[in-house]
Amino acid sequence: MKRTKVVDALQSTDFGKDINVKGWVRSHRSSKAVDFIALNDGSTIKNIQIVVDPATMDADALKSITTGACISVVGTLVESQGKGQASEIQSKEIEIYGLCPNDYPMQKKGQSFEYMRKYAHLRLRTNTFGAVFRIRHNMAIAIHKYFHEHGFYYFNTPLITASDAEGAGEMFQVTTLDLNRTGKDGEVAYDRDFFGKKTNLTVSGQLEGELGATALGAIYTFGPTFRAENSNTPRHLAEFWMIEPEVAFLDQEGLMDLEEDFIKYCVRWALDNCKDDLEFLNKMIDKTLLQTLESVVKEDFVRLPYTEGIKILEEAVKNGHKFEFPITGWGMDLSSEHERYLVEEHFKRPVIMTDYPSEIKAFYMKKNPDGKTMQGTDVLFPRIGEIIGGSVREESYDKLIGEIESRGMEKESYSWYLDTRKYGSCPHAGFGLGFERLILFVTGMQNIRDVIPFPRTPKNAEF
Ligand code: 4AD
Ligand code: MG
Repeated sequence: MKRTKVVDALQSTDFGKDINVKGWVRSHRSSKAVDFIALNDGSTIKNIQIVVDPATMDADALKSITTGACISVVGTLVESQGKGQASEIQSKEIEIYGLCPNDYPMQKKGQSFEYMRKYAHLRLRTNTFGAVFRIRHNMAIAIHKYFHEHGFYYFNTPLITASDAEGAGEMFQVTTLDLNRTGKDGEVAYDRDFFGKKTNLTVSGQLEGELGATALGAIYTFGPTFRAENSNTPRHLAEFWMIEPEVAFLDQEGLMDLEEDFIKYCVRWALDNCKDDLEFLNKMIDKTLLQTLESVVKEDFVRLPYTEGIKILEEAVKNGHKFEFPITGWGMDLSSEHERYLVEEHFKRPVIMTDYPSEIKAFYMKKNPDGKTMQGTDVLFPRIGEIIGGSVREESYDKLIGEIESRGMEKESYSWYLDTRKYGSCPHAGFGLGFERLILFVTGMQNIRDVIPFPRTPKNAEF
């Protein structure tokens, strides 16, 4: 008999028909007359109820079907007597695929997320992580759909590179050299390394993305990026996924319009396509989740120059607001606490912050005529802080090389990038969305380690 997925069985009204479902036992309740098994196969947050007449099965075998066990059930689809479910299955035959001994770490309900992180290989079978990863999949689909519908080409940039796209030096080195053997005078002989030079895992696909955009017009990347920053926060990963669109002939206004339209599309997609999972998370994780998602889709984002933002923060301090990290005035970098104050308390909606001081932003951003600020456009979100980092790019060869030199960066490793400014340079802009930060926002989860299946963070590369 062909297997029916639980999601389809629950929607079917073919009552009286025999079907076969397979999945993992979420719970098993027994009484004298009847057993109830809640079965889940990952196709939906909802379980299907299997009703077993103990007379139809060997008593020991039935008893051995505990939480976590994997079974296959043939039985009759019937209209459910219980409330909250449309259909259930009157079991005729159960085949046990895999028993689950009672030291199963996911057996107890209500374990902490910290506990479950130790069992990231098994936590996938819980309701919460099932919901999170179904939503994660849906967001990936939404992203590809948005860009495809808007004329962007999916463009794949390398993961191994010889340049630092952000110029911040937070890179994991890639080498086949024996680390126990250095060359003469302790110097590393990179000419003998696999690529004949020093290479690292990419921190961003942007620079190569710019090559794509200045040829194809509009591209986006969607892939893993790596940062060796020693940040142990609920919002940082050492390996995270980033979406980076890059567009020729786009100015700062257009860039902000794109950022806002894109992220609203993604959130709307979740509301339209992940209803059951979102309702579950709204009930179990964050009671304001659905309301927050709805309001982000509806409201216009505030567009706020950095200089104005600093004034608001200084005003807040004057009025007695206490920040953990002090407001030191114009030129300071904002921490997520400051970003969240602006978004959650001052404006009560998302903010696109613009025109940051040059010193605190990357070398490739276009300078404003004031010589002090540049055309960066970060999107700040409730609960998250920075969710998108973007900018108009400096298109002048001379200005760009000046910036690279004044920051003491290695000019040689950017020669190919500088060629875009040498040959037919054009105004262009783009941004990067942290995929896991988007998933954090959409699911209401608190820790970024809980929205990627196998998180990589300082001192942690398990699984
Ligand atoms: O602001 P960032 O560093 O910008 C760039 O990498 C640019 N090259 C993007 C571009 O203009 N094409 O990173 C972009 C986004 C951040 O806003 C944040 O959402 C996410 O990537 N991000 C991280 N997410 C998880 N863990 C980390 N360590 C992250 N660092 C950045
Ligand atoms: Mg940033």
